Amino acid sequence: MNRTSTVQNEGQQSQTLGFRGEDTPRDVGNNRGAPLNEPFCILCVAGARPNFMKLAPLFRALDCHPEFRPVLVHTGQHYDDSMSGQFFRELGLPLPSHNLEVGSGSHAQQTAEIMKRFEGVVLEERPSAVLVVGDVNSTAACALVSKKLGVSVIHVEAGLRSFDRSMPEEINRLVTDAISDLLLVTEESGLHNLEKEGVGSEKIHFVGNLMIDSLFFHLEHARSSPILDELGLRGERFGVVTLHRPSNVDDAVQLQEILGALQVISEDLPLYFPVHPRTRVRLESQKMSPGIRLSEPLGYLDFVCLMSNSAVVLTDSGGIQEETTALGIPCLTLRNNTERPITVDEGTNRLAGTSQESILAAWQEMKSSPKPGRVPKLWDGNAAGRSMVAMRGFFSQRRIPN
Ligand code: UD1
Repeated sequence: MNRTSTVQNEGQQSQTLGFRGEDTPRDVGNNRGAPLNEPFCILCVAGARPNFMKLAPLFRALDCHPEFRPVLVHTGQHYDDSMSGQFFRELGLPLPSHNLEVGSGSHAQQTAEIMKRFEGVVLEERPSAVLVVGDVNSTAACALVSKKLGVSVIHVEAGLRSFDRSMPEEINRLVTDAISDLLLVTEESGLHNLEKEGVGSEKIHFVGNLMIDSLFFHLEHARSSPILDELGLRGERFGVVTLHRPSNVDDAVQLQEILGALQVISEDLPLYFPVHPRTRVRLESQKMSPGIRLSEPLGYLDFVCLMSNSAVVLTDSGGIQEETTALGIPCLTLRNNTERPITVDEGTNRLAGTSQESILAAWQEMKSSPKPGRVPKLWDGNAAGRSMVAMRGFFSQRRIPN
């Protein structure tokens, strides 16, 4: 068996890599897959909080299937127990086989450090493919490393576009999709975006939403969380707030606009605000009105419980726009755009903008004309099964004779 001597390049031509020098990596070039009697090794990358709930259902499905051997890699982009460890435990993810422990830094530092450390893992594991999820720095960094070593890349949540290149996540999405070999799409806009960008249709599969698989899988358990009693919220009307986008929280004037709107809303509806670490630093100098209760970030089950019992969620998160749509909870997105347009077109989401005036206008509109919303196509809890079908199809031609 020789799994290391050749790579398939983009033009599907076999070529030998001509690395020279002590510290240049050997080729892993394994686009062809695995020998007949071996499972396909899939390196599954998770780095930041929103990755974990997207990966968990697919990792479980891969782990149960004899054709695959998933290996979990945590880049350590998020590292606090409240942002990472707690989610692994609640979602039933095993301890990662590799933890790169990169921590925080500037975009360049973080991305570069992930790339440097991940390369060694790919060289050691020699996977048949690397699976990346979402749009965080870990996603783009690991996709780049893999592709440059000739390893196939599978991207979960491909094709989403905000068309706003000032968002770091938009750059990560564009880079990752441009070099992925199998693109698993959550909503129809993703299909159209990839088609317009010239991605071959044979690479693209509309599988639905893995984040909603996790939501439905854990919903009943989450609803029995004691969090409502602990916070004295049982039977009460309340709203939930989350904020962490750099464009909203890093600029003091912008943050003040949003806080001004939250203050007015909180006179009508008490707001509960679990604070992301990035935002915590910015809020330290701000005076909060009594109607806004701050807390540490919540675990997954507590947050789902709170969200599913709330009257409205005000957020700049991507995933929460989707979860509120799946739950039928009104959502005001504190942004001017969304890469998840189906949540606005079909779901309960409204783009509220980021000025005090626009947020309060959206709040009034939400009260006067509530959107019933419907759950989008294929957000049914079975996206992992469809992802497995797409992956088995992808690998069916990639057996190497023994
Ligand atoms: C990252 C993702 C963003 C995602 C978000 C979810 C990128 C470019 N951004 O943004 O897409 O929506 O995660 O949370 O990948 N920190 C801690 N503890 C942690 C992690 C971070 O205290 O466990 C603090 C650090 O001070 C760090 C800051 O939070 O500097 C921001 O973390 P970082 O991973 O750089 O970006 P996020 O804002 O979390």
